[in-house]
Amino acid sequence: MLNCCHRLRPGRRAIQVLISFLLMSLFAERLVAQRPLPHSVARPSEVSVSHLHLDLRVDFEKRTLSGSAKLKLQRSDGAYQLWLDTQGLAISKVTDVDGQKLPWELSRPDIQLGQGLSIQLKAATNEVVIYYSTRPGAAALQWLTPEQTTEKRHPFLFTQSQAILARTWVPCQDTPAVRMTYSANIKVPSELLAVMSAANPQKRNDSGEYSFQMNQPIPSYLLALAVGDLVFEPLGQRSGVYAEPSVLKKAAWELADTERMIDAAEKLYGPYRWDRYDVIFLPSSFPFGGMENPRLTFATPTILAGDRSLVALIAHELAHSWSGNLVTNATWNDFWLNEGFTVYFEQRIMEAVYGRKYSEMLAKLSLDGLKAEIQELDARDTWLKLDLAGRNPDDGMTSIAYDKGYFFLRMLEETVGRKQWDAFLKNYFDQNAFKSMTTESFLDYVDMHLQPDADLRAWVYGPGLPDNVPVVKTQELTRAGKAALKFKDGTPADQIASAFETAAWTTHHWNHFLRTLGQGLSLDQMQELDSQFKFTASGNAEITKDWLMLVIDSGYEAGYGRLREFLTEQGRRKFLQPLYVRLAETDGGLKRARDIYRNARPGYHSVSAQTIDEILGVEASQGL
Ligand code: BES
Ligand code: ZN
Repeated sequence: MLNCCHRLRPGRRAIQVLISFLLMSLFAERLVAQRPLPHSVARPSEVSVSHLHLDLRVDFEKRTLSGSAKLKLQRSDGAYQLWLDTQGLAISKVTDVDGQKLPWELSRPDIQLGQGLSIQLKAATNEVVIYYSTRPGAAALQWLTPEQTTEKRHPFLFTQSQAILARTWVPCQDTPAVRMTYSANIKVPSELLAVMSAANPQKRNDSGEYSFQMNQPIPSYLLALAVGDLVFEPLGQRSGVYAEPSVLKKAAWELADTERMIDAAEKLYGPYRWDRYDVIFLPSSFPFGGMENPRLTFATPTILAGDRSLVALIAHELAHSWSGNLVTNATWNDFWLNEGFTVYFEQRIMEAVYGRKYSEMLAKLSLDGLKAEIQELDARDTWLKLDLAGRNPDDGMTSIAYDKGYFFLRMLEETVGRKQWDAFLKNYFDQNAFKSMTTESFLDYVDMHLQPDADLRAWVYGPGLPDNVPVVKTQELTRAGKAALKFKDGTPADQIASAFETAAWTTHHWNHFLRTLGQGLSLDQMQELDSQFKFTASGNAEITKDWLMLVIDSGYEAGYGRLREFLTEQGRRKFLQPLYVRLAETDGGLKRARDIYRNARPGYHSVSAQTIDEILGVEASQGL
């Protein structure tokens, strides 16, 4: 073939080339369509799940959910097999809607991905019912004893499905490329209330039976359930807060600006499409700051600082109602499409509600954190477009997706101007609503509708931070940084306090101050800082974390009691991880860390425990 080509006359040759080009592109298209998804066995182009109905009983004694999942299917011609993701589910049978058994099989388990469940469909099968129960160790679920709750009277259960843990409690196509509506009947002990990422009850009922409906199609990672001694308080017309009784008042006070945030968000990028926006405060072992479960953000109580200084987290989870929940990353390699857009949108909400001076402080902390983390990461992991095939998608949860993503979008804003950029983004959310988006389809969309004069590919397919990274201007934090350097140069702490008017500082000033102090403080300096600013006694988790880093670096013994306490009383991975890493690096610190961890681990969610197991070299199964 190759040999004869050059002998063809030019006209015929052109036709030949054209034909082979067409054939090749057709073939390439098929390859793309059939390429396996990076973290799922689902084959949605053959059969996809369009609706899920859960019927589950929550058993706190056995620590199981048991019942059934009914899946409505969309089948393409000639497709007779449904592939679902599962991990550790005990499946008893699979039937069609008439109760006729369907043959099924589980594939060999993969530590990361679990087991594929393949179900043989009959010609007319468009619904399957899977009868199953979860196992006590299911990674998405945290079963808390009464002692592990704030109230200490009732047990508590919550789920965390992102990134690929939905499969540990629901057999599903566990990929963000597939969306489904869902409904659920959940039976719980009658003293407890159940809530989901769906239309929710606001009051407990005596039957313990709750029904849920989510009429907008969502990806599996947004499936969520919490069960506990929960009460509700409205914040405004369409928002409210759930918490254990003794947390409720504090929580409602802290979130007083929620309606203003929703209004600001809508003004920026179009209507809120999920009807209500509620927040639930979980017990302190919740492994994240927040999780954007639709209609019901799951939040850590560690943002209840008593001064509303940590509510950017609410702006962030609210922003996901557009970036992520409406327009969704198609794979976890495109995670920046969820998180980078959300940090960008979060900052815009914060700017609208609290002013540019405030939001620029957040941007500065984000930039400093990003630069530090780029130093630590492998170059390939600093591209916006990640390559997480064969790895835990959690590895993508670095400041690259969040903060490099943010600065990339801010660079685009500054290149084309805010007016054009905002119009573009509003359309982007509108036109791609309820769809999944890859990095490539986003870049195509930019090519079509924005055409900025900037090198996008250097950000997306290249390492580190390109030269055109936006400049952050914050006199506020510049001054806080100066204060830190002055102290290091010998100015006494009380003079720092008066000269820099630290009494008026926000959490963000303190974060920047403590981070600028950095390593190398003497014990005397630590002592002086502590007696002037009372860091060890701080009730603000963000400040506590930064202070404890210095405690470890300097070996400041008076802070170690607080360190042990902090690592035990809350399970937020973002706080645990750096502290354990730093502790394990110091002389004799690894032993100390393992000692603290031995007591604390039973209180952690599996997501945090897995990370800390790796840091401290602990085999999950062997314990400590
Ligand atoms: N969706 C994330 C949490 C997440 C990401 C869970 C990946 C599992 C896998 C959530 O929106 C988030 O980003 N939370 C941040 C808070 C935010 C203010 C940066 C967190 O938990 O720290
Ligand atoms: Zn997020």
